[in-house]
Amino acid sequence: MTEPRPPARFAIGNSSDIVTARQAARALSAHLGFGKAHQTRLATAVSELTRNVIQYAGEGSCLIEDLSDDQERVIRISIEDHGPGIPNLPLAMEDGFSTSGGLGAGLPGARRLVDDFHVSSAPGLTRVVIAIRKPA
Ligand SMILES: Nc1ncnc2c1ncn2[C@@H]1O[C@H](COP(=O)(O)OP(=O)(O)OP(=O)(O)O)[C@@H](O)[C@H]1O
Ligand SMILES: [Mg+2]
Repeated sequence: MTEPRPPARFAIGNSSDIVTARQAARALSAHLGFGKAHQTRLATAVSELTRNVIQYAGEGSCLIEDLSDDQERVIRISIEDHGPGIPNLPLAMEDGFSTSGGLGAGLPGARRLVDDFHVSSAPGLTRVVIAIRKPA
């Protein structure tokens, strides 16, 4: 198999950082042989989650890792911030819940777009870890 790409960390502070992270996720998924639809799904999830970072925390980071091995192609992306935290996580994961007058589609939509989705949040640290995987 090809050598795994080194991890890449992106600071998230403005809308052009969203584009950069989104494009990096798409490029890695293309490199690893994920189809166009899966590339777009991953890129969209990264967009939504990094947009939340800017909107609710002001800034944060996005770490993109290639965890592929001989059996499986795996991309893991960890998006985190040190903002106020998500006040009610079960509610925030429901379609249509928004504290900002938004659609409330970002978190639940992102969860549906990827294979793995984990979120933890407390004041000072919110972290969403997503992954897509496919057989090698
Ligand atoms: N990083 C975060 N820090 C603090 N709160 C967050 C964060 N991400 C999401 N939330 C909270 O979770 C709610 C739901 O987020 P979600 O992305 O699903 O919807 P939205 O941002 O309100 O609207 P949309 O993304 O559809 O424009 C937000 O309204 C906000 O209260
Ligand atoms: Mg959102």
